[in-house]
Amino acid sequence: MINRRQFLKVTGAGAAALAAGGIIPLAKAAGAGALTNPANNFNPDLDIALKATPAETPVLPGNPTRVWSYRGQVVKGDPASLIHLQRSYLGPVIRARTGQKVRIRFTNDVADETIVHWHGLHVPAEMDGHPRYVIAPGESYIYEFEVRNRAGTYWYHPHPHGITGPQVYGGLAGLFLVSDDEENAAGLPAGEYDIPLVIQDRAFDARNQLVYLSGHRMEQMTGFLGDWILVNGQPDFSLPVASRAYRLRLLNGSNSRIYKLAWQDGQPLTIIATDGGLLETPVQRRYVLLGPAERLELWADFSKYPVGSELTLVSLPFDAGAMGGGMMGRGMMGAESVLPNGAGFSILRVTVTRREQKTLALPQRLATISRYREADAVNRKNPRRFQLVMQHMAWTINGRTFRMLEVASDEKVRLNTLEVWEFINQGGGMGMMGGMNMPHPMHLHGMQFQVLERQGVRHEGYVDEGWKDTVLLMPGERIKILVRFADYPGLFLYHCHNLEHEDMGMMRNYLIENPSASV
Ligand code: C2O
Ligand code: CU
Ligand code: CU
Repeated sequence: MINRRQFLKVTGAGAAALAAGGIIPLAKAAGAGALTNPANNFNPDLDIALKATPAETPVLPGNPTRVWSYRGQVVKGDPASLIHLQRSYLGPVIRARTGQKVRIRFTNDVADETIVHWHGLHVPAEMDGHPRYVIAPGESYIYEFEVRNRAGTYWYHPHPHGITGPQVYGGLAGLFLVSDDEENAAGLPAGEYDIPLVIQDRAFDARNQLVYLSGHRMEQMTGFLGDWILVNGQPDFSLPVASRAYRLRLLNGSNSRIYKLAWQDGQPLTIIATDGGLLETPVQRRYVLLGPAERLELWADFSKYPVGSELTLVSLPFDAGAMGGGMMGRGMMGAESVLPNGAGFSILRVTVTRREQKTLALPQRLATISRYREADAVNRKNPRRFQLVMQHMAWTINGRTFRMLEVASDEKVRLNTLEVWEFINQGGGMGMMGGMNMPHPMHLHGMQFQVLERQGVRHEGYVDEGWKDTVLLMPGERIKILVRFADYPGLFLYHCHNLEHEDMGMMRNYLIENPSASV
């Protein structure tokens, strides 16, 4: 059970000290008493100070771009736990091991309320960055949790209600990489051969400043689409490699854009991990659709290429549905995106710059995944159904939009039970918008889940073999997932991770109830 004292919202003296001094060692901080609770004997292996702050960073040639950035510093623990990306607005890559206790003292130094969510991590409700925990400029929030996830590529980003889209877009996002013994044993490329790649689209004005939505409702219905494809915050991203095997960790950190990933030369992608870590065995696909917030890890072996070779990772053209580029998207939108969802383009270029004698062989066995069984689900005969529909010019889940603390009776689950949830993206809705259909990447907070089945899928671009926390539904598709509500009771979110949809309320709470808890 989570002790409410395990989290602290720091205000007053402590917050002022943090805001003024930036990073201060705990013992020397004037308001240090406010940072720790005597009743709390949480002793972190890794203690990090993290702040959201305005910054300037070079992106395009010429003027630097004003952004909001996460900046961090290790207060206690391995200094290598934070990796700062060069010339990037992205926050530091946080590295932790399963079982480690992590404290993150987060300070809000930007001009909006905000809160940090650890996307994909299994943490108590108070540590999850629900919008009810937003803090004002100058305030701090202390996160303390044990890393319970298996090795994998997770990430962190803001979660204030209604303004998550602009805050992530403005630069607030970072990776949270977890490692464990099973991953070590798999013998994967590590160190400089393990490369994080965060893909995002942006738009710039003539002075290199970020341009977001114009405020037109139709634009928000579609979601933001930029005409620059950035990787780790840089345009025209090029990756120099040696002739050997690499582990490429991809995150789609875009607000709305979907990528249909493929190697330009037509060789298949070799996928070794998804949102929640390693697959049991590598799988191959000619292409993979990667929706916002989804992760995918590739095994990329360049050993057969001579020095000087170039390879390009591209996004292939695809049909994104009625609003992604059809009549609705074009005729009624205020500003038409130069690069609609579903357009083809290149994402990054790999250049083989040096010869290396040794490479690694692709392991045939990566990890063990214990499979949930539908027969064990408490609601196997009656899956919870979530219809993704537009009503009254708003994207909804079962006709509902987000209310801060609202939970409907059909959004309550019991602690430590396995359930079947079904998401249905069959369009419909009412009035003149009826039948309008868009992709929706659906995400659950707190849990990794397994895909039970999909229907209506007319392509081969999904990797459903492993643990997931976000699943993409293209128009006409439906999906059943198996999810176990383990360990932590409380209020968690589920929502569409198209951030403009999320901001307009395509998000709901679900409540994990603990029937055995005393009231
Ligand atoms: Cu990336 Cu509510 O999540
Ligand atoms: Cu999340
Ligand atoms: Cu959506």
